[in-house]
Amino acid sequence: MQLYNKNSYPLKEIEDNSIDALITDPPYGISYQNNYWDKDLPLKEIWENSFRTLKYGGFGLVFSSVRLMHRLMVDLEDSGFIIKDVLFWSYLNGMPKSRNVGLSIDKELGVESKKIGEYKYVQGYKEKKDYKATKKDKLSPASELGIKYDGAGLGIKPAYEPIILIQKPLKKGLNVSQNIIKYGTGALNFENTRIPYQDGEGKVGHNPHPKGRIPSNIIRTETQDDGYDKFFVVPKVRQKKDDFNSHPTLKPVELMHHLIKLITFENQLILDPFMGSGSTGVGALELERDFIGYELDKEYFEIAKKRVENMKKNLEYSLF
Ligand SMILES: C[S@@+](CC[C@H](N)C(=O)[O-])C[C@H]1O[C@@H](n2cnc3c(N)ncnc32)[C@H](O)[C@@H]1O
Repeated sequence: MQLYNKNSYPLKEIEDNSIDALITDPPYGISYQNNYWDKDLPLKEIWENSFRTLKYGGFGLVFSSVRLMHRLMVDLEDSGFIIKDVLFWSYLNGMPKSRNVGLSIDKELGVESKKIGEYKYVQGYKEKKDYKATKKDKLSPASELGIKYDGAGLGIKPAYEPIILIQKPLKKGLNVSQNIIKYGTGALNFENTRIPYQDGEGKVGHNPHPKGRIPSNIIRTETQDDGYDKFFVVPKVRQKKDDFNSHPTLKPVELMHHLIKLITFENQLILDPFMGSGSTGVGALELERDFIGYELDKEYFEIAKKRVENMKKNLEYSLF
């Protein structure tokens, strides 16, 4: 396991064709919560170098945003990767970034909106010890045009995060089996990621697999009320679940487990060039995979190191 506190772009420490899988949650380029590192999408250089370091037939999973995944996908494709699929991690608790356009129209027209009550305002998950919820006025538009547009908004409720599934092409001239024999890469690992059949459910197909269905490209944060759930379910995690972890875009280790199991086999080597607080590394350790991670920010790097060390200790204890 290697963790580097440096810019990942050159990936100088890594030999060509040596990594089995790329799993990463890069900056989305949307200035999420004004984080300085999220202003822009990563440069194409990192995907070109990831391509260079990945083995032939190796898979990758790259988190992205609904708004900019198209640009990221073009960069990945232009760097040589095949776009295989886009997984949707769907959730119910997304916050629409919107406002009442009717009130904005009142403001524009210089008309004072009507106060119809008060509400408590707490921003995101940022509740700190000394943080108090502020009271805000509940308003209703007063101008004629404002009333017409009362409740109109600018953005629909977000309900999924896309995760792009990519693959470095097989070595020229080799078929899948030959590629696996030579490099150990080229196929997805369904054995541990199948979705079990529900008790009593009629099995699908002529020769149903005893462990259940092949995992789909939808992952959910909770079961939804549409009969029995045929999807892999991983709840979101709140910031600071580990009390020392202040990373604002922490991904659940349980989700990383699923992704790791899907595109790697035991003892394979995973690269995460944007590891943040190290969720991919922690998941990799638990599943007996090797890991190389990069993180530019010193504070996040220290968190990742601590999480990985804690996990190592837990694993050592669990041997006795
Ligand atoms: C979306 S966050 C990853 C969060 C991670 N999934 C977790 O669970 O903690 C992306 C991270 O990439 C880091 N980063 C941005 N540019 C980088 C670069 N050039 N080299 C290394 N890390 C970088 C940021 O500091 C940020 O922590």
